[in-house]
Amino acid sequence: MPGAIHAEGLVKTFGDVRALDGVDLDVPEGTVLGLLGPNGAGKTTTVRVLTTLLRPDSGRAVVAGIDVLAQPHEVRRSIGLSGQFAAVDEYLTGRENLRMVGRLYQMSARDAKRRADELLERFDLTGAADRTARTYSGGMRRRLDLAAALVVSPPVMFMDEPTTGLDPRNRQALWEVIEDLVAGGTTLLLTTQYLEEADRLAHDIAVVDHGRVIARGTSDDLKARIGGERIEVVVHERDRIAEAEEVLRALGRGAVAVEGHTRKLTVPVVGGARLLAETIRELDSRGVELDDVGLRRPTLDDVFISLTGHAAEGGGPGENDGADGPDGAAPSDGRKEAAT
Ligand SMILES: Nc1ncnc2c1ncn2[C@@H]1O[C@H](COP(=O)(O)OP(=O)(O)OP(=O)(O)O)[C@@H](O)[C@H]1O
Ligand SMILES: [Mg+2]
Repeated sequence: MPGAIHAEGLVKTFGDVRALDGVDLDVPEGTVLGLLGPNGAGKTTTVRVLTTLLRPDSGRAVVAGIDVLAQPHEVRRSIGLSGQFAAVDEYLTGRENLRMVGRLYQMSARDAKRRADELLERFDLTGAADRTARTYSGGMRRRLDLAAALVVSPPVMFMDEPTTGLDPRNRQALWEVIEDLVAGGTTLLLTTQYLEEADRLAHDIAVVDHGRVIARGTSDDLKARIGGERIEVVVHERDRIAEAEEVLRALGRGAVAVEGHTRKLTVPVVGGARLLAETIRELDSRGVELDDVGLRRPTLDDVFISLTGHAAEGGGPGENDGADGPDGAAPSDGRKEAAT
């Protein structure tokens, strides 16, 4: 059985920029693919191609069994896209926006009302439900966008960085909504800059860089490749960095990343808590003074350092290069910029 989303050799150039350089993807029905990558990697461009908003220069894509290039209108009927098809109307209230989407999708007035109330509650917008969206903060608008995308549950959903700009509580709420959706059989492609998010939500992860998938697998596969936890130490004196590096190299599994200007050293480890204690003991016995020491989970940067030997070039989470440029009549998906 073909996947719910299938892409083959997608190429898209914008002038000199090769935004997509041969992207292949396969998402089995009822599963979640996390498309993980730094700014400018090609995540949004991939989503726009798969959702018919942008034509690739070459390649092929099938979504919900329908050829994206040959039958874009049919594809649109089978998919949902966070924050785009369900664009927020500034002059309507939050509640009106959600009801309107329900009505557009042929729900009865009563069902549309019920669904709107449910989503307002879920996204913590009940208090602001009767204010016009124009008065919403960035994070509120983002939540309303997402709620609108969830009014109906199409068989295939696309979410482009759904949690960027959300506070931890709302991020958690959205994760739960997404889990419900998938439990109901929806296939989801979601883009993210957060390894932790892909880890939590995705059955499969595809890491993209420079318009190519550079690694893919389950989060366990990826963790096995990049190592699980990291020990991170900040050495007090610059001239003890080399010595600390030697200690970490002996205890860790893999290359020690050294950041000279912050005196920070990081190494992947297995068996974190015990090794952390050992690291501290060893450095202490050598008289290497520390400003900070801790155990942490891998970040997107760790993924890139492990997979490519260099840090993510587009910059890590939290940065934004405003990569979403104008392109015909396609709705802008640069909302995350307004959401912080
Ligand atoms: N309409 C456009 N015109 C010109 N260049 C574009 C356009 N859309 C994307 N690009 C370029 O294509 C590359 C990929 O952009 P894309 O938006 O797909 O990245 P992204 O992975 O979504 O990044 P981000 O994390 O910043 O959202 C970038 O170099 C970007 O500048
Ligand atoms: Mg993007």
